[in-house]
Amino acid sequence: MTPSAGPDPVRAARKYRERAAGYDASARRTLELRHRTIDLLRLQAGDRVLDVACGTGLSFPRLREEVGERGVVVGVDVSADMVALAERRIAVSGWANVRACTAALESAALDGPYDALLFNYTHDVLQSPCALANILSHARPGARVALAGIKHPPAWLWPLRAWRIAKARPYVTTLRGLDVPWALILPSLEAFEMRSVMLGTNYLASARVRVSTPGEKA
Ligand SMILES: C[S@@+](CC[C@H](N)C(=O)[O-])C[C@H]1O[C@@H](n2cnc3c(N)ncnc32)[C@H](O)[C@@H]1O
Repeated sequence: MTPSAGPDPVRAARKYRERAAGYDASARRTLELRHRTIDLLRLQAGDRVLDVACGTGLSFPRLREEVGERGVVVGVDVSADMVALAERRIAVSGWANVRACTAALESAALDGPYDALLFNYTHDVLQSPCALANILSHARPGARVALAGIKHPPAWLWPLRAWRIAKARPYVTTLRGLDVPWALILPSLEAFEMRSVMLGTNYLASARVRVSTPGEKA
């Protein structure tokens, strides 16, 4: 992966073919952070929530619990191997209102509008202007947004930056944007709040989809 290469959904699907089986075990360390992201969405019973790049559906149990039987949880991911595991989770739990679809978010038919958007560890998608435009066009104005993911620690922690890159490589197709991973989505958001966690190697953020267009006064 060259440092300047952009995100590539085809390569992501290929990468996760090898990663899918061991993915849940590898994500154990950040599971608590994923739950905190969901809490930031302040979901209500009946909400429709989009789990962006849902992977194996690690966030589904908490999302389903929050939106209840009347709500809807839709997960979309480009990796058929990850989605197969998400579908198995849905089947085992017997949820009628949770579904997972295999598609690149750049072109997925998203069936909005959504009340809430979850971005749990979706670095590639956050670096894809096409994917973000598609997702945001299916969000209700004012929809709640929560994000968690990887980022570079501050420059003075430079040895950790090399570690960050090495740990990220197996899970992303682009290393672009690690300093400010939310930079591309930021103009479409308001009330953005971000907190660095885990020595600045991860972040947790919340916002709302902007009601006014960027440049206009909210
Ligand atoms: C680190 S995993 C995160 C999965 C899940 N959100 C979680 O919290 O465990 C990143 C996921 O992004 C998916 N992905 C990458 N690029 C994508 C794209 N353009 N469209 C849809 N999914 C994408 C990958 O297939 C992978 O499952």
